[in-house]
Formats: sequence, structure tokens, C-alpha cells
Amino acid sequence: MLIDTHAHLQFDPLKGDLDSILERAKNEGVGKIIVVGIDKESSEQAIKLAEKYENIFAAIGLHPQDSKKINGEDWNAIEEMTKHAKVIAIGETGLDYFKIYSPKEIQIEVFKKHIHLANQTGLPLIVHNRDADEDSLSILQNERAKHVVFHCYSSSLEFARRVWAAGYMTSFTGVVTYKKSDVLREVLKECPLEKIMVETDCPYLAPQKYRGGTNEPSYIIETVVEIAKQKGMEAREIEKLTTENAERFFSI
Ligand code: NI
Repeated sequence: MLIDTHAHLQFDPLKGDLDSILERAKNEGVGKIIVVGIDKESSEQAIKLAEKYENIFAAIGLHPQDSKKINGEDWNAIEEMTKHAKVIAIGETGLDYFKIYSPKEIQIEVFKKHIHLANQTGLPLIVHNRDADEDSLSILQNERAKHVVFHCYSSSLEFARRVWAAGYMTSFTGVVTYKKSDVLREVLKECPLEKIMVETDCPYLAPQKYRGGTNEPSYIIETVVEIAKQKGMEAREIEKLTTENAERFFSI
């Protein structure tokens, strides 16, 4: 069984075709899917899907790009959602310095709030980090975040070593199958087996074979096959260990 640890099934165009998408996922052996929110509405929608489908779980949070738009009501709603039985993680949260849609100071403030909520509730954190390596890691460590995954890992090997040394997980998308992703393949080669998880981040980032199209959970096998290649292992073994890692990390 495979687990897609990061999917946005509540987004267009996935949400309009959910039954067939879930059917294809099932046929490809995807047994569990974590649907991730990026704002109040999409977090509520993630919970709705988790209520409807037994094998869907919800992560709730406010994406760093929108930090400046967040108000007290949004934050109260997120806090309230953590009480839901199928909310199994906080995120996505983090820092995005690639395009500064929100000022850094505000991103940092909101990121810290998510970390504190994770510390209070014991829920793991799904971290979005884009061009913000130093701040992301130092803030997580200073705020004593314990259970952390760097989702869609896309930084250097040197930084990955620091993430693993901090006790944090790394999760990989179909980007590892792209021709230009040599650095990521080096990261995979060195990644400790207990630190790897897989995700699609669908509808974005379709693997090479489907590039340019809409990504969906059934395509996650492409990422697993690439990891197996870099590790010199069987895809079946990578499937088993990434699933065990995700079950342990998210308690699902
Ligand atoms: Ni995402």
C-alpha cells in the first residue's frame, strides 16, 4: 500500500472528478491520502473530504503566501479544527521567500503561531520552505518543533543533512523524476531510509511521464520508482518503508 502524504483534492480540477480519481488511486495501491489545506476554506474542505472518505485524512493550516491576509477569525477557525478526529497534521505552513507575496516578518509571525499550535496539540507540522532554508530551520529549532516534515523537499544536499540531523523528515514529489533534478537525486541517494516520505502535491507537479498535465494520487508510483532506482532497491521495498514512515509520523 502507498500513502500520498500531500494532496490538494479540494482544488480544481481534481474536486470535480473525485470519484474516478479515487478509483484510479485505489487501483494503483494508494491506500491513504492526506488532503492539505492552505487557508481556512480549503482546510474546511479537507475536513469534509476526510469525513466522507475513510482513507482520507486532513491537514489544516494557512499558507505563507497568504500570511498578510490572515485575520483573527481565520486563526480561531484553524485552532478549532485541530480538535477534529481526522485532522492529523498542521500545515501547510512555513516560509516562501521565492516570491514575497507577504512580508517576511508577517510570514515568520504566522509560521511561529503554527509551530506553537503543533506543540500544544502534539500534531506534526507540514512545512513549505521555498528559498528560506536558514530561517525555516532555525525558527523550527528555536521554537522547539518536534515532529516536522519538509514537504516537497527541493533544497540542497547539505541542507538536507541538517534537516535530518535535527530529527526532521523529508518528503518527495514527482519533481525527483524531472531531467534537471540531479541535486534531488543526490539527496535521495543519501537520505536515511527512515526519513523518506512520498507525496504528489497534486494537482501540481505531475511526474515526468505526465508532465504538463494534472497530477493525481495514482501517479505517486512514479516517485517511488525513482527513489528505488536511486537507492538500488525494489519499488516494493520503497513502497513499504515510505508507508511505514508516513503511518508512524502522522499516526494514521
Ligand atoms: Ni501543497
